[in-house]
Order: sequence, then structure tokens, then C-alpha cells
Amino acid sequence: MKLGVNIDHIATVRQARLGREPDPVHAAVLAELGGADSITVHLREDRRHIQDRDLPLLRETLGIPLNLEMAVTEEMLAIASALRPQMVCLVPEKREELTTEGGLAVDPEQALLRRLISELRAQGTEVSLFIDPEPQAVLASQAAGAGTVELHTGSWANAWAAHHLQPSQGSQQRVKDEAQRLERAAACCAERGITLNIGHGLSYRNVRQLLHLPLLHELNIGHAIISHALFVGLRQAVAEMKALVEAGPGE
Ligand code: PXP
Repeated sequence: MKLGVNIDHIATVRQARLGREPDPVHAAVLAELGGADSITVHLREDRRHIQDRDLPLLRETLGIPLNLEMAVTEEMLAIASALRPQMVCLVPEKREELTTEGGLAVDPEQALLRRLISELRAQGTEVSLFIDPEPQAVLASQAAGAGTVELHTGSWANAWAAHHLQPSQGSQQRVKDEAQRLERAAACCAERGITLNIGHGLSYRNVRQLLHLPLLHELNIGHAIISHALFVGLRQAVAEMKALVEAGPGE
């Protein structure tokens, strides 16, 4: 099981002063040294954190794969085609959101989505779709040409956090229901031979509870690792998360 580390928050701090520090390239190297299997960055259309300049520098510097998160647009297709990252994850984007709130509404007939997936795959880039944990979304992703999906774990993580704050039978049931949604979608990936990634809201406290998902390939984690890194340093924060992932399923 692989650990992808999202370093967008490093760029958010840099953009607070529109300066050069902290540099996400520096962060990516430390994450790699800490044991990250890949580095994820989201080039948003409004450029609120990662900047165009970061991409070729990361691509050139890293010894591990770069996963570029991006919206389904012509502009992003051109950028990804020039960059040739090892992975692209297609996400929905809304300007007013604080973070990616839901999964992509996958329409397998959408011409741009199909072209984007086929062109990038032909260039050797693996393409993943960030989707809600529903079998229909998995099937639609495959019909659109994707070989990988990333299931959005945000609803499960929110249910988990609410249960921890104020445990009740109802809150426990909601965690169970959300876990079952993920399990059903993961089983659909396994049946269809689709590579399964997960991400959003995963933390040191909850991550092991999803490691039982069948044929889980990669976890993408940002906020928890960067937050912990403020106190222990990024290399150490990544190493601690990697140890949990390697420990396997558990509480
Ligand atoms: N995966 C995707 C597609 C995301 O958009 C994000 C958030 O940027 C993450 C994973 C990581 O989520 P978190 O920061 O909550 O760990």
C-alpha cells in the first residue's frame, strides 16, 4: 500500500506573502526522504496555492511519481501534456470551496473528459478520477476510460470525527454506513479490475480503519501530515504516517 503526500498547504503558506518561502519543492524532497511513495499537488484554476512554476521543478527534482490533481479543462490538459506527470487525478473544482468537497460527476459521454483521459493515457500518464464512493461512479469512470479511481473518503472522515466528538448509537451507525459505502465501491473496483486509491480527511487517528479495503493501492493525505509537520518536521510526519499505513488494518 502506497502513501501519496499532498503538499498544497505548503504553497498556501507561501502564497500568504506571495513570496518564495516555504517552497513546495523543498517540502516534496523532505516528504520523499520521509518515505512518501508519491507527491500530490493540485494546480487550481485560481492558483490559490500551487503555481505553474512549481510543476516542472517538482517533476525534475522528484525521484518518486508526481500526481497532478486538476480540473477537467482544456487549459489543464495542455499543462499536463507539457508536464507529463506520472499520474493525473481529475477533480471537480469550485472557486468558493475551501477544499474539494465532493467527487466528480462522471458523465462517460462528456467529450472533453474522454479526450483528456485518452490523450493523457496515450502519453504514459495514469489517470485517476476522484469520485464519491458509489459503484455507479466507479462504473461510469471505467466507461469514460479511466483505469484508476480515488474514492472520496471525506463523508466517512466527517462521520468518524463527529462520532469521536460525541459518541452515540446514531453516530456509530453513520460511521458504519459510510464505511459500507466505501466497501461496496471498493468491491466494484476489485471486480472490474480498477486500481483503487482513497483520500480526503484521513488522519493519524483514523487511517488504519480503512486499510482493510480490498486491493487498496494508494492513500492520498495532505492536511493531517502538514499539520503534524508544523510540530515534528515534515520528514518525521511522513515517516509516522507511513509506519501506520505499513502496520495495516487496525483501530
Ligand atoms: N485527494 C484529493 C483528490 C484531494 O483533493 C485532497 C485534498 O486536496 C486530498 C486527497 C487530501 O485530503 P486531506 O488534505 O484532507 O488529507
